[in-house]
Formats: sequence, structure tokens, C-alpha cells
Amino acid sequence: MKHLLSTRDLSTEDIVSILAMADHMAEINARAVPKVPALRGRTVASVFFEDSTRTRLSFETAATRLSAEVLTFTASSSSVNKGESLRDTIETLSAMGVDAFVIRHKSSGAPQQITQWTDAAVINAGDGWHQHPTQGLLDAYTITRNFNELNSMKGRTVAIVGDIKHSRVARSDIDVFTRLGAKVVLVAPGAFLPSSLEGWGVTTADSLDDVIDVVDVVYMLRIQRERMDSAQMPSLREYSSLFALTPERAARMQNHALLLHPGPINRGVEMIVDPSLVPGSRILQQVTNGISIRMAVLFSLLGGDATTTLSNGVEA
Ligand code: CP
Repeated sequence: MKHLLSTRDLSTEDIVSILAMADHMAEINARAVPKVPALRGRTVASVFFEDSTRTRLSFETAATRLSAEVLTFTASSSSVNKGESLRDTIETLSAMGVDAFVIRHKSSGAPQQITQWTDAAVINAGDGWHQHPTQGLLDAYTITRNFNELNSMKGRTVAIVGDIKHSRVARSDIDVFTRLGAKVVLVAPGAFLPSSLEGWGVTTADSLDDVIDVVDVVYMLRIQRERMDSAQMPSLREYSSLFALTPERAARMQNHALLLHPGPINRGVEMIVDPSLVPGSRILQQVTNGISIRMAVLFSLLGGDATTTLSNGVEA
């Protein structure tokens, strides 16, 4: 695997293998000094043309913990503001000696395009509505590890709730979850569903009340206002009445059920309950797990032979 542009670049065996490697990375992250020399001498460029808190810092932390050098590029303070093109930006950074680009861009397909302009590995950190592959992996990691079912989500039902249509997270999650054997039910108003769900392998529900007490995972999504015009925005009061997680709905979740959200949360819109008061909430655990997953992805792309390099790194 040279790049990670989509969860579809991964076989199901690849997914299981990355989750297993993330267990190893989690063990490193639990140490007093969570750092190994596995990627010493490698350079990772974090190139974000869209805002991010979790993904960016998580990738940069992951690269640092594997001892890679990190180049941080922020579009808003770069020569993009003087008219420099995406291609010239990538070629300029490549000339500095980059081994992997971590790319976030508002245009679907931008990371794929970038692979044509560099010999470095390219990792998609979220492109438009298209894909957010490491989010799909960290979400599957969080669910499987909480249920102690390491290689499978068989028999589990996940409700993904909210703005599916504009969500790259939903697309990556649905692909990974269904391939690991989960049933996925999309809970959304019609305006927030794609025009066709043919081939998605999911079912739909019209309100959170229809599914809240039977699913194993409640996965809440933010309304992605930045990807829609104001005419597409539903009435927030109407939306919240059917699709928000309220304290009453949270109280109806099964005892073992998990609450997930990729962040950022819009409190008072999709999340009316305080998530810290929901016993099944694993929202902050998702953030923690994101570092282990991104270490596993960076190592898989840049690290060579896991049996020698990582064990040398761990023991050094
Ligand atoms: N989940 C996620 O992509 O969050 P950020 O936009 O903060 O990176």
C-alpha cells in the first residue's frame, strides 16, 4: 500500500491488521515516555486546507511519537494567499524532502490528484464529502475494542444519525463497519440522505426514537453547514425534535450501548444531552484511539517490515 486515500484501498484483512497494529501502538502510548524511533529520519508533512483540531493534532502527535520529523503547513498563513497553486505547494514541500503528506482539502479527490505530483505517500485526512479513512478505522477500533470482539462487528447494529449526505465520516464508517459484519441503520431526514443508497448495504429509519433502544452503537453526526447552502438547511427545532440525542433518548440506550461522535460537537443541535453524562460515551476515547490508529497507518506506509523495525523501535 503506497497511499491511503479511501477505506476502499484496504482489504478487510488490511483493516484487521491495522487495528491489530494499533493495539501495539496503544501499548507504546501508555508508556511513561510514549516514543519509539521507528520512523527516525522520515518526514511527514501535515497539509491542511480546511480547519481541524483532532485529525491534524492526532497525525502530528502520531508522527512525533514514531520519531518522524513533522512539517506543518497551514493554508491560511501560507503563500496560497499570494496565489500559489495546490500543485506548486505540493511540489515545493516535496522538494524539502517529504516522505508522507497528510492532506485535508474541501474538494473530494484532492488527495488522489496530489499523488500525481509527488513520489511521497499521500494520506487522506478528509476530502470534501468523499472519505476520511483514518476516522473510519479509529471508529471501528473504538467499537471492536469496547466490545472485545477484535476482528469483527458481526451481530452489532450501528445507528449513524444526522447529516449523512455531506459526511465523509459516514462514508468511511459505513464501508468499514459493514465489511467487519455490522448492520448499519442511517437515521436522517430525507434531505440529509444521499439521493441513492444503492450498494451501500444499509437500512434507514425516520427518527432516533425508532432505533435508540435496540442499537449497540449510536453514532451522532454534526450538520455540516459549510457543505450546504442555506436553502438546504432544515429547521433546527424540527431537526432536533426527531434526530438530536436528548437526555430522555440517552436514557433509553441499552446498558452496553456506546455513544460516538467524530467531533466537533454542536451542542444544542445534534447533542442536547451533555455527553459526559452518558455512561456509554466513548467520544474522548475516539480521540485517544485516533493517535494509535494514525501511528499504525504511518508505520504501515513508511515503516517497512513490522517484525524488525517496530520491535527494534520498541526495544530501543
Ligand atoms: N473528526 C474530525 O475530523 O475532527 P477535526 O475536523 O477536528 O479534525
